[in-house]
Amino acid sequence: MDQRAVVTAGTGGIGLETAMGLAASGLAVTVVGRDAERGARALERIETVATGAGPRFEPADLASLEEVRALAARLAAEGPLKVLVNNVGAMFPERQHTVDGIEATFAVNHLSPYLLTELLLEQLRAAGPSRIVNVSSGAVRLAKGSFDAAEPPGGYYGFHRYGRAKLANLVYTLDLAERLRGSGVSVFAADPGGAATEMTNGTMTSPKIVSPGLRLLWPLVRRRFERSTSGPASVAARPSVLAATGTSLDGRTGLLIGPEAHPVPAPRGSTEPRTIDQVRRLSRQLAPLTPGR
Ligand SMILES: NC(=O)c1ccc[n+]([C@@H]2O[C@H](COP(=O)([O-])OP(=O)(O)OC[C@H]3O[C@@H](n4cnc5c(N)ncnc54)[C@H](OP(=O)(O)O)[C@@H]3O)[C@@H](O)[C@H]2O)c1
Repeated sequence: MDQRAVVTAGTGGIGLETAMGLAASGLAVTVVGRDAERGARALERIETVATGAGPRFEPADLASLEEVRALAARLAAEGPLKVLVNNVGAMFPERQHTVDGIEATFAVNHLSPYLLTELLLEQLRAAGPSRIVNVSSGAVRLAKGSFDAAEPPGGYYGFHRYGRAKLANLVYTLDLAERLRGSGVSVFAADPGGAATEMTNGTMTSPKIVSPGLRLLWPLVRRRFERSTSGPASVAARPSVLAATGTSLDGRTGLLIGPEAHPVPAPRGSTEPRTIDQVRRLSRQLAPLTPGR
């Protein structure tokens, strides 16, 4: 039987490079994106490196919880799942809400991967040893870990909201790894470092994305952003590919794989019991596995 892998936001940027790495290792990869034409172009590229079964495209807007649930149902119907890479992520320079009325940064970077993962656990268990990879970001290191609501009090600064949502997802990732310890499902976070992609192209140029305090240092901050987001997506995909397929990680779980593609210490705030509890509650409340609960 084919060993199946799913890469969300896998039709462009770091996700496409990740999908290519997984396909090259023999996995039958399904890439998820919103745009079917783009999906078709991605499949052509993946096919050139695939060593196992051909790739597939599944359409879904991962900013919609209903679409995430529908996607999960379609994927679950296909049976055991060897690898799930939750690669979707976005930074929104201006505050916006999803169709579910949830602040978009929190929905796309945390609730969507959370919900898809929870809804596919049975298929991941059935394929054990299997792996879940949640794509993180260095922005978590600047984030404050308070999660009693989707939105923190105070102003909207896109980069900080992004870091906060990625921190929620990292907290969830490490918590899930403990929950699944001994089940055959390993759970990793992968920090790609940075790359020149759609997400970073043009979005890191306005001082409005950082807090007034950091704006005072804007020339420095901007230079740092430019440096860290100038590399190729193929290099930024390495941590995810290692987390998904690296034999050096066999039997291990609960690790953050850093930009150099080896395990690095997770930020202290990502394992605090109070934060874990808040993330659990908020995730269940905002993204119930069954709608209406
Ligand atoms: N780039 C960086 O410097 C950097 C740094 C740290 C962490 N990261 C993280 O790495 C991951 C990948 O980042 P990236 O820079 O490669 O992003 P990207 O360039 O924006 O990714 C493009 C891909 O995302 C898909 N996508 C975007 N929104 C979607 C949605 N709502 N539903 C479904 N698919 C969606 C696009 O497909 P469609 O257009 O067809 O929807 C396309 O496949 C993210 O989690 C990001 O937070 C990136």
